[in-house]
Amino acid sequence: MQMETKDAIKLRRSVKQYDPEHTLTDAELNELLSLAALSPTAFNIQHWRFVVVKDPGLRKQIREVAWDQAQVTDSSALIILCADLKAWEKLPARYWKNAPKEVQEFILPAIDGYYRDKEQVQRDEVMRSCGIAAQTIMLSAKSMGYDSCPMDGFDFSAVASLINLPDDHIISMFIAIGKGIADASPRAGQLSLDEIVIENKFNRQ
Ligand SMILES: Cc1cc2nc3c(=O)[nH]c(=O)nc-3n(C[C@H](O)[C@H](O)[C@H](O)COP(=O)(O)O)c2cc1C
Repeated sequence: MQMETKDAIKLRRSVKQYDPEHTLTDAELNELLSLAALSPTAFNIQHWRFVVVKDPGLRKQIREVAWDQAQVTDSSALIILCADLKAWEKLPARYWKNAPKEVQEFILPAIDGYYRDKEQVQRDEVMRSCGIAAQTIMLSAKSMGYDSCPMDGFDFSAVASLINLPDDHIISMFIAIGKGIADASPRAGQLSLDEIVIENKFNRQ
């Protein structure tokens, strides 16, 4: 199925009800994750970690700590977008292995200087990257004929414990993907560009 990017953006909605009988093929899931992996990250550190929850029992346990939201068990794929906060210091040369040597010599110390001892920067960066990857996943899903729902309505520490999240990783959000069986409600209310676009500078209060 071909879909213009602009159409995928307009047609993507947060769908809450999915056909629980539908499954994604391994090829579809692989395509989706391969597209997600092309999302940009600062310094190309690719620190997202996509936990694909396939075990129905685990999905049920996750639903129990996710406000009993049906998407968790009924969608065809539940992806928990996590990230490694310390990816910047874990063999960073592999993120630039194909670059010319002089680029590597410049970039590797720059990565270290940017993140070392800056916990807030490490966390902010992860959230930026996961947000972008989430949208890549949702638009890719739409263009493959699937619906999706981004989710943060869950107990983060309970989910972390259910998936054995390593101490130096964090969870950003879930993305549920599947065959929607009910349309999303009409758009709740979009702000006008007048309110959300600022020309040059904010006005001083
Ligand atoms: C970070 C994030 C978390 C969200 N969490 C949930 C959630 O837990 N459950 C849910 O049904 N929708 C959730 N949503 C969906 C929003 O309610 C939805 O994106 C918003 O109302 C706009 O609707 P649309 O996505 O259909 O355009 C979440 C969206 C985002 C971006």
